[in-house]
Amino acid sequence: MRQTKIDDFLELEHHNKELEKKIQEEVAKNREKDKLMFQQSKLASLGEMLGNISHQWRQPLMEINSLFLPIEAKLSLTDTLDKEEVLEAIQKLNHITRYMSNTIDDFTDFFSTDKEKIKFKLLEQINSTINIISGGLKAHNIKLDIIIQKNPELIGYKNDYSQVLINIISNAKDILVQRKIENPYIKISIFEENNNIVTTVEDNAGGINVIPIEKIFEPFFTYQKTNGSGLGLFMSKLIIEKNLNGKLEVKNYSQGAFFKITIPKN
Ligand SMILES: Nc1ncnc2c1ncn2[C@@H]1O[C@H](COP(=O)(O)OP(=O)(O)O)[C@@H](O)[C@H]1O
Ligand SMILES: [Mg+2]
Repeated sequence: MRQTKIDDFLELEHHNKELEKKIQEEVAKNREKDKLMFQQSKLASLGEMLGNISHQWRQPLMEINSLFLPIEAKLSLTDTLDKEEVLEAIQKLNHITRYMSNTIDDFTDFFSTDKEKIKFKLLEQINSTINIISGGLKAHNIKLDIIIQKNPELIGYKNDYSQVLINIISNAKDILVQRKIENPYIKISIFEENNNIVTTVEDNAGGINVIPIEKIFEPFFTYQKTNGSGLGLFMSKLIIEKNLNGKLEVKNYSQGAFFKITIPKN
């Protein structure tokens, strides 16, 4: 009798250990899946970014071209060249190439994985995000308004915040272009509300035609798009909730879609 009880106990113990191992395995598997999803969504953003970089560089390249046209013309017509003029052109050239180099830095920074959580100023992060995407917006004549009441600091992986902004802005851009909206705009506002830092992004593309609207946060949900991955908003919500302890909400308003990112102040 006694022996069977011990046997039972031992068996139960063995069972528990097995179960524990299984759980650990499943958890590890899930973590792998999460990682893969992150990777996938970053790849999706990479595609969008590459489109942006070409727009971003076209303008300065054209400026460089036009910078030396008059100098070239003068050289072929006369032998004398104004030293001041050349120096001025070189100065402008330096300025433009510095700008191009900064854009590349912002891109590189965005695609390197954050190693540690740091304190960062929201405005700086927004500025480098806009450096990445403004070319793509300008190419489609989309006006970008930024209204900042405060310049709060956050602690976290700064590229996470950028990735979310890029996802939301890219979506707005896609729809504005697709629906051929007149006077298209995207408006970003940053303010503080009840100890939270709030970022809102709104557009005038006419709104999200999905019911219930929360469906857009589901993985692989894409609607009325030719090249959608359906990962952007799913990932954005995950990032805001898991990495920044915040909330990502959406609604339609009279002109279009309205996204609200709420992050508690650290
Ligand atoms: N600003 C917006 N206006 C209208 N529809 C939107 C907007 N943002 C997102 N959507 C809708 O939500 C869907 C999901 O977005 P997302 O998760 O980024 O995936 P994807 O962009 O790859 O389709 C989009 O396919 C689109 O139909
Ligand atoms: Mg998207």
